[in-house]
Amino acid sequence: MSQTSPVITVQQHILEEQKRFPGSSGEFSWLLSGITMATKLIQAKVRRAGLTDILGAQGDINVQGEVQQKLDIYSNEVLIQCLSARESIGVLASEEDEKPLLVHQGSENATYAVVFDPLDGSSNIDVNVSVGTTFSILRRPEGVSLDEPEKWVLQPGARQIAAGYVVYGSSTILVYSVGNGVHGFTLDPAVGAYTLSHPNMKMPEQGSYYSVNEAYCDSFPERYQQYLARLRNGDLGRKYSSRYIGSMVADVHRTLLKGGIFMYPPTESNSDGKLRLLYEANPIAFLVEQAGGTAIDGTRRVLDIVPDSIHQRTPMVVGSQVEVADFERFFVGSNSDAA
Ligand code: AHG
Ligand code: MN
Ligand code: MN
Repeated sequence: MSQTSPVITVQQHILEEQKRFPGSSGEFSWLLSGITMATKLIQAKVRRAGLTDILGAQGDINVQGEVQQKLDIYSNEVLIQCLSARESIGVLASEEDEKPLLVHQGSENATYAVVFDPLDGSSNIDVNVSVGTTFSILRRPEGVSLDEPEKWVLQPGARQIAAGYVVYGSSTILVYSVGNGVHGFTLDPAVGAYTLSHPNMKMPEQGSYYSVNEAYCDSFPERYQQYLARLRNGDLGRKYSSRYIGSMVADVHRTLLKGGIFMYPPTESNSDGKLRLLYEANPIAFLVEQAGGTAIDGTRRVLDIVPDSIHQRTPMVVGSQVEVADFERFFVGSNSDAA
């Protein structure tokens, strides 16, 4: 009787998955290892945050107009450093940098762009609540040179070839997809390896949680308020409970596992919602759809949105088929607010 069940590391899994990419000569797994390495370094900082000078604000204001936290900066630098060592990457775009970054100046064989939010949920860093990292991998568009880095990343989310996130929570979990289902890997601190713990994740058809910042409820468009009332009144055939962590990655991870709905609607201060299309909504929408859920911006599929700027924002209504279909059935195209 064997004492050991097979351990499948994320590297092994990626090697298997990348056989789906004709002609990829291991460069894809080498690229993803840049992300896994960076997130191990980030999680090491997160785990010791109170013991090292990594808490609190760095003091600068980033392109989002938000005060950068020290861990935002560290996470951003680590991801840029690890990914710049992958010659298959030509362009990086980060929530923390106004413009896309060129890596491997002039290396013509660079074929990928990586877009990321290095530290998602910054407001939760200092209070020991789960935070995360999101990433989205795009192929260089035909005929586009390194002189036009924006064109590498301004592509609809449907063109992502891979996407994922890491939640630095009670454990550290990497969740990713290359378009062949969604798979979760828990970082085993004893060996420092991401090991397969959630193979082929499927979102329940209906959940019992809704997740939205209700403090802004009065400024949501009418149909969002009516929809939340439907959930609270049990109109979808069950009682709902509210869960809102304030770190999108953690709220989405729970929704992937338990079902339900996560929303960031348009608000008075953010008429297009707060979340950014390229490195928050798109990777999440890719994973949610791969897991059998639905991801819309309130009216249309997130993955169909053609971006025109790197940091553009979008409303998000993502989750189980039943909840999102109900939102669409009752409110998309209704004569109430279009947004
Ligand atoms: P980031 O820390 O990368 O700026 O992202 C924070 C986002 C997202 O993680 C979360 O869902 C949302 O901000 C919370 O916003 P509110 O505090 O307005 O609810
Ligand atoms: Mn974020
Ligand atoms: Mn961030």
